[in-house]
Amino acid sequence: MKTRITELFGIKHPIIQGGMHYVGFAEMAAAVSNAGGLGIITGLTQRTPEGLAKEIERCKGMTDKPFGVNLTFLPAVTPPDYPGFIKTIVDSGVKAVETAGNNPQKYMPALKEAGIKVIHKCTAVRHALKAESIGCDAVSVDGFECGGHPGEDDVGNWVLLPRAAEALKIPFVASGGVGTGSQLAAALALGADGINMGTRFIATVEAPVHQNVKDAIVAATELDTRLIMRPLRNTERVLNNAAVQTLLAKEKEMGAALTFADIAEEVAGVYPRIMKDGDMDAGGWSCGMVAGLIHDVPTCKELIERIVSEAEAIIRSRLEGMLAA
Ligand SMILES: Cc1cc2nc3c(=O)[nH]c(=O)nc-3n(C[C@H](O)[C@H](O)[C@H](O)COP(=O)(O)O)c2cc1C
Repeated sequence: MKTRITELFGIKHPIIQGGMHYVGFAEMAAAVSNAGGLGIITGLTQRTPEGLAKEIERCKGMTDKPFGVNLTFLPAVTPPDYPGFIKTIVDSGVKAVETAGNNPQKYMPALKEAGIKVIHKCTAVRHALKAESIGCDAVSVDGFECGGHPGEDDVGNWVLLPRAAEALKIPFVASGGVGTGSQLAAALALGADGINMGTRFIATVEAPVHQNVKDAIVAATELDTRLIMRPLRNTERVLNNAAVQTLLAKEKEMGAALTFADIAEEVAGVYPRIMKDGDMDAGGWSCGMVAGLIHDVPTCKELIERIVSEAEAIIRSRLEGMLAA
């Protein structure tokens, strides 16, 4: 397939792996890129710019295909060394960056000067338009279904994607809830130039996470995610578990009085315990509704080829056939 996204990033298939905390290591990004998609290393998982530089070098040793780096701008009392991370990315020669969490305007000049293509992930058309206006090359439009942070507007992709198509000039990918070839075909029909997937890529052979995480995603249905931290306006879609139940009970009980400190036990520092140790009740971890469509753990190559061939078959046979009739 050739779309504005395959052209922009120099990739074979219009499929991107979104940044994922404690999942987006070099192994994940390289596997996706080697399979013809765009793999993304998650910058902040490396904690320091030096750590990220090493991870990028590791990834270069695993693939000669393009890959990118995710930089998530978090609301934090002591923010990470963002200028240092930007410098590392620029110096490394990586040519694609996925920004998320907040407006990347401050860092755009440095990224653009280095010839880096920027895809900004956002959950609202107004934020996508802002990204377009500050010079982002593309956006990832993350619908309400998504694993991670869906924002506070709760607009699903069935409306959000055609709204993005109405409003945007730059290319966008459909993100959130995507895991199949029928959805790739649908995303293209709705005006997107490709797809971005998170949860689906965790349930792959190469994803460098504990087997328990992959098993939990395969076992989950589309009814098994929950929204946490809504009272803090930092909503996150996570897989339901005992810790999430505890957290939701606190939210209900404390209402508007809830602070981050009240739920820190269920959310702070849980990712290594889940992703590395496989302690599935350690806390809330991002997972999308697409879990209901995930029934196996293929290699990234098998997954991407399956998605693309299914989409092609739907476009060529099913849809084309309807016109012929
Ligand atoms: C375990 C996990 C961790 C994530 N961590 C991040 C992150 O650190 N930064 C970010 O921008 N997005 C993060 N995301 C969001 C993904 O990049 C992607 O936008 C989202 O998963 C798409 O929805 P889907 O899971 O339905 O495919 C994460 C998602 C998951 C499932």
